Amino acid sequence: MFSSRILTITALLAATIAAGAQTAAQPPTTLKDAYKGAFYVGVAINTPQITGKDAAGDDVIVAQFNSVTPENALKWENILSKPGVYDFTLADKYVAFGEKHHMFIVGHNLVWHAQTPESVFQDEQGKPISRDALLQRLRDHIFTVVGRYKGRIQSWDVVNEALNDDGTLRKSKWEQIIGDDYILKAFEWVHEADPQVELNYNDYSLENPAKRAGAIALVKNLQAHGIPIAVVGNQAHVSLRSPTAEVEDQTVKELAATGVKVAITELDIDVLPEVSWGSADVNLRAARDPKLDPYPNGLPDAVQKELAQKYASLFEVYWKNRAVMSRVTLWGLSDADSWRNNWPVPGRTDDCLLWNRKLQPKPAFQAVIDVVKKAQ
Ligand code: XIL
Repeated sequence: MFSSRILTITALLAATIAAGAQTAAQPPTTLKDAYKGAFYVGVAINTPQITGKDAAGDDVIVAQFNSVTPENALKWENILSKPGVYDFTLADKYVAFGEKHHMFIVGHNLVWHAQTPESVFQDEQGKPISRDALLQRLRDHIFTVVGRYKGRIQSWDVVNEALNDDGTLRKSKWEQIIGDDYILKAFEWVHEADPQVELNYNDYSLENPAKRAGAIALVKNLQAHGIPIAVVGNQAHVSLRSPTAEVEDQTVKELAATGVKVAITELDIDVLPEVSWGSADVNLRAARDPKLDPYPNGLPDAVQKELAQKYASLFEVYWKNRAVMSRVTLWGLSDADSWRNNWPVPGRTDDCLLWNRKLQPKPAFQAVIDVVKKAQ
């Protein structure tokens, strides 16, 4: 009797200690905690999330992420519809959201070939403007926007997608009217407008060796001109098929070898039959076809598992390279939010993110958390 009581007490004690130990060793249940000290984990947020209309989404964003990027709110066409007429209503709310929740706030973006009104490149008669006139507009835009959020936005995507897939410079309106040095000018002016802000070059498909070489040359050219470029953003709009973890690893390492940090700025993993084949050009369009939309009622378990494994394999790469990684940002919170549902084919069901359409975490979410758990 006596000994059995001792036994019970000992068992209870052991159970308590074990429970305590278990609590202490509990795996983190949020992305930001799991990757704390390694890199920021961010998310692109849309209008309902910025304005608070998507309260449920906001709760998840605040709990899980420590960085935000505006999906559209800071793009040229969204803050300046006509030359000289700015509307910062939504952009101000975006920055206030990030500040309220003590997040690392990204500005996306200042110079891009897309989502920029044609009027930026034209005079009042619709004729192309001169190099000097366009440089003046670019300078005004940068000083107005960067100046407005000086000290509040921590990181700017200064130039977005300046490269072709072969690594040469894209013949955008910026390049055609100003010449190749529009990139240098933009970086110089952002640095002048906010000397503390982190300067990024952002592009997609940097896993493609030719394009990556172009990005590396672009970074070296900026460095040679004394520009303190800090980060190269690889968008990483990827797919289940490509890139492999090996290629992603090589991409991060080669970009970091220039001396900059690497950010994954727009991660999502396409689960549908591929139409874009590695490109993320927003101007791509393809026709609707039921064959291209095989999972309108949700992902089959096998694909769900494949998605989780792919996310885990990429985050393993980012975790291993954490010394040179500044941030990993997902391009949207839930599958319902993803731009991929309408790009490049309208009206598809592309369950490419970490939360499903009911805002429940998917197996891929746990797989991303488990990467760190397994590594420790
Ligand atoms: C996308 C947005 O997600 C869409 O809502 C919008 O209609 C088009 O642009 N590369 C980028 C992002 O740098 O700004 C793009 O975002 C996706 C591709």
